[in-house]
Amino acid sequence: MSVALVLIFGALRLTCPANNNSSNNNLNDNIYHDFPRFWTHSGFCAANNSSETAFRPTEEIKINLHYISALPSGAVKTIRIHWLLELLAFQEYTPSGVPVYDFTNLDMFLEFLDELGLYPVIEFMGNPNGVFSKNPLHNEFYWENLSSQIVQRYAGKYGPAKILKWRFESWNEPDLRKYNRLTFNFEDYVTYVYALRRGLTSAGQRLNNSIHLPLHGPAGLFRSTLNHPLCWKILQLCNDNIKNCPFDTITYHRKGHGKASEVLEASSLLLKELEINFPQVAKLPIANSEADPIAIWSTPHDYLADVRYAATLVTIVLLHWSAKLQKAEFKQLSYISHDNAFISYHPYEFSQRTLLAHFRMNNSQPVYSQFIQKPVYSALGMLSKLGSIATDLEFIAVNNTPQIQLLKTKVPDSRLYLSWLMLPTENVTSLGDFILRRQMGLQFCEQGRYAYLIEILEQKRTDPAALWIKFGKPPYPNATVRETLRHSQNPFIYANGILSNDTIEIHLGKLELPWILLLRVCSNLIPQAKRPRNLIAISITKNEVMLTWRENNTNNISCIKTYEVWHLIDFSKEWIHVSKGWHLPHLSFHYAPTNISVEGFYKVRSIDAFNNSSEFSDIVEYIEI
Ligand SMILES: *[C@@H]1O[C@H](CO)[C@@H](O)[C@H](O)[C@H]1NC(C)=O
Ligand SMILES: *[C@@H]1O[C@H](CO)[C@@H](O)[C@H](O)[C@H]1NC(C)=O
Ligand SMILES: *[C@@H]1O[C@H](CO)[C@@H](O)[C@H](O)[C@H]1NC(C)=O
Ligand SMILES: *[C@@H]1O[C@H](CO)[C@@H](O)[C@H](O)[C@H]1NC(C)=O
Ligand SMILES: *[C@@H]1O[C@H](CO)[C@@H](O)[C@H](O)[C@H]1NC(C)=O
Ligand SMILES: *[C@@H]1O[C@H](CO)[C@@H](O)[C@H](O)[C@H]1NC(C)=O
Ligand SMILES: *[C@@H]1O[C@H](CO)[C@@H](O)[C@H](O)[C@H]1NC(C)=O
Ligand SMILES: *[C@@H]1O[C@H](CO)[C@@H](O)[C@H](O)[C@H]1NC(C)=O
Ligand SMILES: *[C@@H]1O[C@H](CO)[C@@H](O)[C@H](O)[C@H]1NC(C)=O
Ligand SMILES: *[C@@H]1O[C@H](CO)[C@@H](O)[C@H](O)[C@H]1NC(C)=O
Ligand SMILES: *[C@@H]1O[C@H](CO)[C@@H](O)[C@H](O)[C@H]1NC(C)=O
Ligand SMILES: *[C@@H]1O[C@H](CO)[C@@H](O)[C@H](O)[C@H]1NC(C)=O
Repeated sequence: MSVALVLIFGALRLTCPANNNSSNNNLNDNIYHDFPRFWTHSGFCAANNSSETAFRPTEEIKINLHYISALPSGAVKTIRIHWLLELLAFQEYTPSGVPVYDFTNLDMFLEFLDELGLYPVIEFMGNPNGVFSKNPLHNEFYWENLSSQIVQRYAGKYGPAKILKWRFESWNEPDLRKYNRLTFNFEDYVTYVYALRRGLTSAGQRLNNSIHLPLHGPAGLFRSTLNHPLCWKILQLCNDNIKNCPFDTITYHRKGHGKASEVLEASSLLLKELEINFPQVAKLPIANSEADPIAIWSTPHDYLADVRYAATLVTIVLLHWSAKLQKAEFKQLSYISHDNAFISYHPYEFSQRTLLAHFRMNNSQPVYSQFIQKPVYSALGMLSKLGSIATDLEFIAVNNTPQIQLLKTKVPDSRLYLSWLMLPTENVTSLGDFILRRQMGLQFCEQGRYAYLIEILEQKRTDPAALWIKFGKPPYPNATVRETLRHSQNPFIYANGILSNDTIEIHLGKLELPWILLLRVCSNLIPQAKRPRNLIAISITKNEVMLTWRENNTNNISCIKTYEVWHLIDFSKEWIHVSKGWHLPHLSFHYAPTNISVEGFYKVRSIDAFNNSSEFSDIVEYIEI
């Protein structure tokens, strides 16, 4: 198969003129860089504190995670959950005094994440049944032993290669009283961190090929040295003897006051300070493991409800990308994480820092949860469709002022795929009647044909929160309202067709601000749409079902336009295309018909940018219980 493709490309190269583009083609002048997906991380806190019963993955936590894993592959890879180790139960001490833990609940939860294709961040943070607080003198040994046990156990289960994709991080924000439940002083803290390091090292050495498991930390807030001594002092310790530093990646938290540029500026100040005061530490990889536009997830803000938050998150990603290329202090930036996988609560269904709006349906028996996707959720989906190489962020001038951000990405073989992301800069209030006209740098010739696809998230149009407000903010939206909200939760297709020339023209001034636009161009030489796999049906409530599936995408090229969901009540009837009229760019569909039963059989297929359909997935049966 791959040999055949190479031959086709070879033939193409012969018949396409080397340069049939006009001379003012911007694309050819651009430099493309490897574009790692450094933003594909989310997190949440499962409970307020580490009390014995605080953490249990409830049904709504699971459905929330089902949604997150139903974004296209590579949208969210890791998920950082505080207090995960509270899922361990301390059982007893062995005769020699080693704690024995019951892993049942942690096993189940990690198995669930694994089925979803998500990698956990294991924060060594918790106090299972008070084992640490009751034995302060043994903490060093307990942490070393526990970190080692965890690695051995899960490397045994999932294989060392997968465990290397997980992340291990030290205690979150150890200087804050609300997190520092073991009341670490600096000495305790250093002891704890080095114990983790030794535990990971010894467990790694015991595995085949003796792998090195990186430790990330100190997950510090790094405000004043007076108030945050633990994270600052451990950096000093590292700087004095960098070879003996327990951390492989330095993690910190910097947020803004609502704007993306503030996140970058706050980071920049901190990182410059590190460069000056801790020059050895500054050579290590760094990561902002909570790079949110504003602190405190639960504090409601109107802009967190709609396309404004989506645009802010995307701008955070783009600004960090540009900073990585241009600014010395960001050269070592390894990743950023968004802390937005929380579950919102009444009456702030849309306006907390979350990916989804959550409705707890207390008026039902039994009580259950409904989720609506916010535009920020779709924005992560759009980011996942970028190519593997990218230019620096470009600013397009409107009325001689830079007002539109453009990121151009593609794959190394540029005849196959390009993906451009565009959105207004943060401070824009009007784009007048601006029409964008751009050449894309594509080569047109006999054999090659290009389909293009433009999807847009637009304020007031893909805006379920605005509709919900219009309906009077019902705490228990009825089926009609829910369906209306869901119809506006995904980006819409602005244009799709076959390209006849190299120029793209988009009337951007007509769009309500803010908006996010994704342009993809796919060659017909790309192997055809692959059939979706792992289709499952999840019960939401009576006669409502969530269908989710996985992509078969391994080449960083995403030419899928939408999915179709088909339903068969029984084999005496016909298959019905039940998602007709829905644009489904993500890997899920909430099916809630009012006139027929959701029981029966389901299958799904993908439709690519050429309108070609894949084969159907395997068929699954759904029976209501
Ligand atoms: C978390 O804390 C807030 C306020 O401190 C409280 O209202 C809420 O009930 C708590 N939630 C849980 C799950 O304990
Ligand atoms: C933490 O958990 C304990 C025990 O369940 C509870 O009494 C306390 O109120 C909780 N604190 C917060 C801040 O939620
Ligand atoms: C935990 O400590 C006990 C006692 O020293 C030892 O037998 C066991 O191998 C340790 N486990 C790990 C994973 O380090
Ligand atoms: C280590 O390698 C041996 C032999 O190659 C194999 O049998 C065993 O399963 C491996 N163990 C792990 C944890 O990968
Ligand atoms: C908006 O911000 C950009 C980037 O910070 C700046 O270059 C531009 O001049 C600003 N535009 C306006 C209209 O203020
Ligand atoms: C539903 O009940 C939960 C738990 O009692 C409560 O926290 C929530 O506010 C209720 N929701 C509404 C919309 O009243
Ligand atoms: C659903 O709720 C909307 C808004 O509250 C209302 O206008 C409509 O009549 C309701 N529909 C049904 C079927 O109850
Ligand atoms: C696919 O079909 C849609 C709707 O029928 C049409 O608008 C679009 O141009 C078609 N795309 C291609 C590449 O032919
Ligand atoms: C180029 O293609 C677009 C649609 O893809 C079309 O609207 C436009 O008229 C074409 N321009 C020329 C010069 O052919
Ligand atoms: C679309 O499907 C047709 C028929 O199945 C096939 O001949 C053609 O190559 C496909 N085109 C693309 C771009 O996949
Ligand atoms: C996909 O892109 C990543 C970088 O984003 C790269 O490391 C990887 O090799 C690419 N995979 C393929 C199959 O091109
Ligand atoms: C159920 O209602 C939908 C939407 O009104 C309609 O398209 C569909 O044909 C109906 N199905 C049946 C089996 O009546």
